[in-house]
Amino acid sequence: MASVSAGPPFIDVCVHRSVHPAVVAAELRDGLAGGELATRQHYLSLRQARLWRDLAAAISPARDEGDGMQAYGAVNSLIGEHFDGRDVHLIGLGCADGAKERRLLEALPPGGAVSVTPVDVSLPLLQVAADALSGAGGALLRQPVLCDLTLAAADLPQMIGEAAGARVITLYGMLASIDAFPAIAAALALLRPGDLLAVSANLLADEASAMERVAAQYDNQPTREWLWSLCEDAGIDRAQAAITVGALEDPGAGAQAAIGAWLEPAVDLNLELDAGAVSLTAGQPIRLLRSARHTPAGLSSIISAAGLELLALEVSPSGEEGVALALCP
Ligand SMILES: C[S@@+](CC[C@H](N)C(=O)[O-])C[C@H]1O[C@@H](n2cnc3c(N)ncnc32)[C@H](O)[C@@H]1O
Repeated sequence: MASVSAGPPFIDVCVHRSVHPAVVAAELRDGLAGGELATRQHYLSLRQARLWRDLAAAISPARDEGDGMQAYGAVNSLIGEHFDGRDVHLIGLGCADGAKERRLLEALPPGGAVSVTPVDVSLPLLQVAADALSGAGGALLRQPVLCDLTLAAADLPQMIGEAAGARVITLYGMLASIDAFPAIAAALALLRPGDLLAVSANLLADEASAMERVAAQYDNQPTREWLWSLCEDAGIDRAQAAITVGALEDPGAGAQAAIGAWLEPAVDLNLELDAGAVSLTAGQPIRLLRSARHTPAGLSSIISAAGLELLALEVSPSGEEGVALALCP
């Protein structure tokens, strides 16, 4: 066994039915047939997880120390002040590699018992998160949860269970590609009076070239490599189709604008998938990805529509990343 640098020798993962191979395979078949794929389809394999981590490290404004990380850092400090050494249970919804949750744990002042539950749809990313979060800031790693947040909200309370202290739930980097209301519904299923929700959104900066800058974050080789991974696994050859990137007419509920990425078959394709055969028609695009951009006002409306009290909304220096902190009354 190749060695990994740190982390527990094994983890006991709670696996929801929404990630059953038959469910995932049927979703892929139906998405290709219907012209629109679910975002989670791009995170599931080892290769997809690696390619996504590479591109997030290289391109994401959220991970830029001089930009997005400042907004997350400011919210981390507020969370630390709010709990002030009391017991805390951090639940990272769609946590990927857990990098942002780790920084939050490390920012909490010492004192109370701290535990953490990573939640994601990707097993490879959840394993990386478990390594990153186990022991971070003295936190106890609880059972990681593998699920589709949009399909598992009703079961989340039971899967996550009870731990000492108030909950702080992070919903970071999710509103770009999942509709805000199903994503927030997963958090609402877990929030109790006095708990906190920290939610981030990619923002549309207030300048003329803002959409061009957003498009450049997707119209690049690392992103294409990541998106091709799913297409190639589905049996599509790079000579048979192209990936295009452009603005989307309908940005989705609560969003201001969105960029989409499409697969455009150059020839008719007959794919044999795990869940059955699908035919794609030359020239008929399939949307691989949607990445929505919000405004600070739109993000606060999402928080208030969810019945939560906005405590703070931190915007990064570039205006491209916003992190809101809300209290469950
Ligand atoms: C853009 S990444 C954001 C990751 C991380 N929270 C961050 O801000 O860096 C989206 C993450 O959500 C996960 N994801 C996508 N769709 C999901 C779904 N329906 N349910 C649960 N997780 C999902 C992906 O596996 C990935 O880890």
